Amino acid sequence: MLRKIGVLTSGGDSPGMNAAIRAVTRTALANGIEVVGIRDGYKGLVEGLYEPFTRRSVAETISMGGTILGSARLPEFKEEEVLMKGVNKLKENGIDAVVVIGGDGTYRGANALTQHGINCIALPGTIDNDIEGTDFTIGFDTALNTIVECVDKLRDTSNSHHRCSVVEVMGNRCGDLAIYSGISCGAEVLITPETGYDEEAVLEKLKYLENQGTSHAIVIVSEKVCDVQALAEKVSKATGFAGRATILGHIQRGGSPTPNDRVLASRMGAKAVELLIEGKGGECVCIRNNEITSMSIDECISLTRSSRKEFYRLFDRLV
Ligand code: F6P
Repeated sequence: MLRKIGVLTSGGDSPGMNAAIRAVTRTALANGIEVVGIRDGYKGLVEGLYEPFTRRSVAETISMGGTILGSARLPEFKEEEVLMKGVNKLKENGIDAVVVIGGDGTYRGANALTQHGINCIALPGTIDNDIEGTDFTIGFDTALNTIVECVDKLRDTSNSHHRCSVVEVMGNRCGDLAIYSGISCGAEVLITPETGYDEEAVLEKLKYLENQGTSHAIVIVSEKVCDVQALAEKVSKATGFAGRATILGHIQRGGSPTPNDRVLASRMGAKAVELLIEGKGGECVCIRNNEITSMSIDECISLTRSSRKEFYRLFDRLV
């Protein structure tokens, strides 16, 4: 019998996390289940930073970016001693199950808790879209919109000055934010973990485009693949474009979630509670072909990243 559940957000925040917390809270309350908001991710879970939630606790939050619960990274949660402290704290507070919202590190914590008798359901909350088994993660669409808005602005000024804007986007070793924004913004060059970095080829392509009469260029680069400042300097030296680097940084993680993210988060939050009511744990919620479904966290974290070959082929055709 499920009487009380906890909800937490962990890892890097993402727009739409509040919509997910709201959906979890309201679905649970509607089913007669008490809800506790756990502050600051697994850190708060271990330390007992728990707050009873009512319908009103999540009022006016659907349009808010960030997470009302706060987030933190706690690598020590892998250690048995820390994990057991968390399990005991939940039991002392009568919490039978937890919904966790975050990235793959968060998923591992949920699995460990489930193995220790606390059913957990994980929701994909990250702008990176780097979780397997789901077509989209909560926050990806908003971050993509933010990037597109920024790059469109850079294109205006870059066009006026015959420049090449080298723009670094987030993604944490996943090229989705880069490829989706590259296509959306009509970028000329894309550098992602999937394409790799071939400096010569990038400069040659820019020179070729310049010879074809292109007046300015946008290069979208996934973080952690190359140094955008150094590349912009090389562009200035090797081509007729003046290179300028822009690192979009954490601005990509903020802002009011798009309707797509709000709907996705609401559907996923409701599903998480349904799964707990069915007595399930160690599962993560996914969206595939616009259907909300779930799979075991074990299976999810063992999957290898599906490639976006079709997107890259499309990008190349459109330059
Ligand atoms: O996972 C989300 C993310 O924003 C990544 O895109 C990025 O690499 C990382 O978090 C940044 O982490 P932090 O907020 O700790 O600087």
